Amino acid sequence: MRPSVLGSAMRPSANPLVSRISLFSRPSHSSRRCLSHQATPAPAPTPTPAPTPAQPSRPISQLLKWKPEQNVDHVVVHGYVRSVRGLKAWRFVSLGDGSSLDPLQAVIESGLAEGLTVGAAVRLTGSWVASPGHAQSHELQVREVKVLGPSDAKTFPIQKKYQTPEYLRTIPHLRPRTPLNALLLRLRSEAVTSLTQFFARQDFVQTHPPIITSSDCEGAGEVFTLNPASDPAEQPDKEPAADPQESFFRSKKYLTVSTQLHLEALAQSVGNVWTLSPVFRAEQSDTSRHLSEFYMLEAEMSFVDDMNSVMDLAENMLRQLGTDLYQSDTVKSLLTRTPHFGQDLAPAEEVARRWEGLMQPDWPRITYTEAIDILKQHEDKFEQKPVWGAGLQSEHEKFIASTVGKDRPVFVTNYPRDIKAFYMRPTQESGSQDSSRVTVDCFDLLVPELCEIAGGSMREHQLEPLLDIMTRQGIIKSPSETASENDSGNGLQWYADLRRWGCPPHGGFGLGFDRLLSYLSGVQTVRDIVSFPRWYGRCDC
Ligand code: 4AD
Ligand code: MG
Repeated sequence: MRPSVLGSAMRPSANPLVSRISLFSRPSHSSRRCLSHQATPAPAPTPTPAPTPAQPSRPISQLLKWKPEQNVDHVVVHGYVRSVRGLKAWRFVSLGDGSSLDPLQAVIESGLAEGLTVGAAVRLTGSWVASPGHAQSHELQVREVKVLGPSDAKTFPIQKKYQTPEYLRTIPHLRPRTPLNALLLRLRSEAVTSLTQFFARQDFVQTHPPIITSSDCEGAGEVFTLNPASDPAEQPDKEPAADPQESFFRSKKYLTVSTQLHLEALAQSVGNVWTLSPVFRAEQSDTSRHLSEFYMLEAEMSFVDDMNSVMDLAENMLRQLGTDLYQSDTVKSLLTRTPHFGQDLAPAEEVARRWEGLMQPDWPRITYTEAIDILKQHEDKFEQKPVWGAGLQSEHEKFIASTVGKDRPVFVTNYPRDIKAFYMRPTQESGSQDSSRVTVDCFDLLVPELCEIAGGSMREHQLEPLLDIMTRQGIIKSPSETASENDSGNGLQWYADLRRWGCPPHGGFGLGFDRLLSYLSGVQTVRDIVSFPRWYGRCDC
């Protein structure tokens, strides 16, 4: 027989929703006395003990930590039914609200349990009492049930049992309701809070650069073009407009691949700036690291000549993130492994090592040339042989990250100019450069498994060298053109213009925010770290 608390007095709730329950809105003894007092003056009432007010609804994560010695009445909780186990007279309901991996156990008389089906959104009111069961210290003994959003359990696609990531990806609109995906949403939110605080403390200005752009910042041809649905180019039965002058913006526009170029303009106004923006890449890469839409954290520093300052910023930012979050409930939960996670996450010890590596000081910084030398010593381990002048393959990056960095992220700097974007400043060290091996002041930040999580560089801040390289790469037609006169179509003359009027040395970086979260959560693919993933061939809802 379960202990009963159903005789407790109930009072109107501070929560307006709760106060609408008919049982709660019945006049209480004290209000009835008050009415009669108005009708017939009576002797002063003897003082009665103050009624216990209904508690405001609390997140389940808070309730689970609350272990009062005495029973507490009038506790209100909102959540979704994860499972219902039925005995004859009682039902045991697992309730989740996205605030914790563990559910709350609610014990309900069968007669009150109508509509408590898996997936239903409910409000339960009752007493918070020590639980006789072993799985939880306390449980809610329910005396009031309100089904706020019914659910047909037979058709509800989310089950308490293990469901594969592939299956869950087919229902992105419901997937966030699983305990793990709710946890990932909280991790994302807490990471944004930590990063925002970090940049505020460093006096960086948070900015909102545009999403619609005139140019392909990275020059890799991975931009999505943008047209209104009414554009003739979008009508299969109509001839496409030959003249871009007739298009919506009067010239071709794209979704941004990186906000860097606009950030550079804003940095020339207020100094150091940052943003966390969605960016879009039409890469046909079907890998666990590539999305077509992802969030990039970008920072740009003005009046900075030494690339070490930019790497210091990236390193300090990530170390602070590690320090802020590692002891949080969210990360502690991430490091637990419940049966319904299956084998989907990287092992907990490995994920813990990633966090600890983030908090370690002095991340290694090696040049690309040094990296190639290291790789060459282990050539037989690779499918693609490392060659100076070619990009590092992911197998190379993984090797460098795990052998050089141990558990720390590794900066690889000074890549060959020919494999990097036009805006990067040539390497500054004078005299030491082999003329056949021209490099630029840039870096990639590598971690084991995920490989590159951030890339940055010093920017060419002088007009003549920038015009020179832009003309050589065909980005502009002639160095003499200015943005106000006529942009030759690549939409980047304005970027060169920034160098005409007060452009100090500057540099910055872009961090793949979803890759970072994947790495720190142990989620094996970025497709499962974003709620609504878009990648080559898939954009479900
Ligand atoms: O290295 P990327 O291309 O650098 C830039 O775009 C610079 N303009 C940034 C800057 O200096 N402000 O991209 C930056 C990071 C990569 O290191 C990677 O982590 C991530 O963005 N990234 C992707 N993440 C998910 N899916 C993709 N398709 C990605 N492409 C790049
Ligand atoms: Mg890169």
